[in-house]
Amino acid sequence: MPATLVVGAQWGDEGKGKVIDLLTADADVVVRYQGGANAGHTVMVGEETYVLHLIPSGILYPGKTNVIGNGVVVDPARLVEEIDHFKGRGIDVERQLFVSDLAHVTFPYHKRLDEAREAKRGHDRIGTTHQGIGPTYSDKYGRVGIRVGDLGDEAGFVEKVRRNLEEKNAFFREYYHCPEMSEDEILGPYRAYWPRLKGLVCDTIPLLRDALKAGKRVLLEGAQGTLLDVDFGTYPYVSASHPTAGGASAGSGIPPRSIERVVGVVKAYTTRVGAGPLPTELPAEDAERLRIVGREYGATTGRPRRVGWFDAVAVRRAVDVNGLTEVAVTKLDILDHLDEVPVCVAYRHQGRELVDFPNRVELVEACEPVYRRLPGWKSETKGVRRWQDFPENAKGYIEALQTLIGVRVSIVSIGPRRNEIVRVGS
Ligand code: IMP
Repeated sequence: MPATLVVGAQWGDEGKGKVIDLLTADADVVVRYQGGANAGHTVMVGEETYVLHLIPSGILYPGKTNVIGNGVVVDPARLVEEIDHFKGRGIDVERQLFVSDLAHVTFPYHKRLDEAREAKRGHDRIGTTHQGIGPTYSDKYGRVGIRVGDLGDEAGFVEKVRRNLEEKNAFFREYYHCPEMSEDEILGPYRAYWPRLKGLVCDTIPLLRDALKAGKRVLLEGAQGTLLDVDFGTYPYVSASHPTAGGASAGSGIPPRSIERVVGVVKAYTTRVGAGPLPTELPAEDAERLRIVGREYGATTGRPRRVGWFDAVAVRRAVDVNGLTEVAVTKLDILDHLDEVPVCVAYRHQGRELVDFPNRVELVEACEPVYRRLPGWKSETKGVRRWQDFPENAKGYIEALQTLIGVRVSIVSIGPRRNEIVRVGS
């Protein structure tokens, strides 16, 4: 059975949690493949709200297998906290969760480095989540990282921590002028995590191979979004991983040819947390209005999200690099009250119209959006349960997006609850 991938097609926070939750109903195995505790996937079940940071959203369904893949960076403190949180809410996490022994571990020195680096950048800071994501991936690619499987090898683990601390402390002392970290600060808590986690840690590659061979339905759960991809996003204002389709294979061990369906998730408008260009960003007052209606505050950091109109240029980049086979549009209901809804169809730069997203961040910053203004529908869509019952202008809006990005919209979400979602055509 081919796997399905859900990928963010903007700057993260597209409402992936909701779409993944819908598709999980038809899946057997859910796999996270990149990012770490910087993610925050919100799912509402009945009146209960769940926010998942590291654990795949499949945990909210009994009997599904959940995998934290090799491409994820795992902060054991956050993972244990999350496991306990969900256990406290009656979810049998440990029977349903597997963690790749190849996944890299985030340590407190990564978080300190993340904070120190951001502070040093001053006005030019990226606006990271301070979860140590960038420094953990830097160590991975610098070949000095420590993997989840290493936590169980006492002697080797101590040596690896020692070597890392030597280097990090030199940076803290000499360059960032912040407190150093002691070996005990790390070893104490990290020794205690292993007994908690060892039952979950395994080689997830054969697990996923066997699941696919047995015809199980595998769902890959992307975090962040395409425009935050370290290559395809607005570098350097990006995260440190590959949220994109290519990253799904590298971060899970599932071969690319096993991934057939690629669902891109977009919000009906655009948001972004942290610094970096957002070409369709609204002026402060208008942004505040939409932010309040859309409850646009970060699920991990609580920071207010920046808000803009739908940007077809940015989403077309996501279509291209992910090979999206369909698109889910979320939060359409947030636009219900508007007289007209602008959509960015191209960028203008020095009198020229650009239809492709520019690679250089300076160029993106210098572009002005070219808008098409679509008529609003001025009626509530929250209660609509069939595509045919949507107001004509709301259908027109979705159809316009579809034409602009060249991919079929298959799902429209009109509220945070599980049932506030419609399959297009139904
Ligand atoms: P980092 O991933 O913490 O290094 O942050 C890098 C950039 O990605 C910052 O602009 C963050 O705000 C952004 N970011 C990271 N994770 C998420 C997410 O899950 N949703 C939205 N933005 C994110």
